[in-house]
Amino acid sequence: MNTLRERVAVYPGSFDPLTNGHVDIILRGARLFDRIIVAILRNAEKNPLFSPEERVSMALDVFREHPNVEVESFEGLLVDYAELRRASVIVRGLRAVSDFEFELQMALMNRRLGPDIETVFMMPAEQYTYVSSRLIKEVFALGGPVAGLVPEMVEERLREKRARNS
Ligand code: PNS
Repeated sequence: MNTLRERVAVYPGSFDPLTNGHVDIILRGARLFDRIIVAILRNAEKNPLFSPEERVSMALDVFREHPNVEVESFEGLLVDYAELRRASVIVRGLRAVSDFEFELQMALMNRRLGPDIETVFMMPAEQYTYVSSRLIKEVFALGGPVAGLVPEMVEERLREKRARNS
């Protein structure tokens, strides 16, 4: 193996919006790999709360002081994107057993599509094991507090969105 070659990981997802669980995984990944690219899927949901541009801009802001964390959006097959960015690792977070089945399917499909790319699962800190973007959106939409579960910048953008929509 070329020891001079950087170890690059991609951390793909919808990130609608980025949560502190995602941030926790990204920071762990940033310690393990030379570079970690937060790869935001452009068309994950038909009706996302935040546009891909808004999601990229929030993540850029959150990681502005972390030079080995990059943020981009992508379309198409994840393995094609990973190859394009010369990433040899796909990072995914595992919160609970319930995540495992789908994650296993994705990891094995990605292995079939891109045999040289390895999926690495990482566990977030315990306090984030129940946090998901879907629940954050639901709680916030119903007026519940999400402080401490998402970065402050994301909370601000959620508030702006609610003010604009009301
Ligand atoms: O945050 P999510 O919604 O769990 O992320 C899912 C994501 C973006 C990782 C997955 O949908 C994906 O990789 N989509 C890109 C298209 C693709 O490569 N599909 C085959 C993967 S098995």
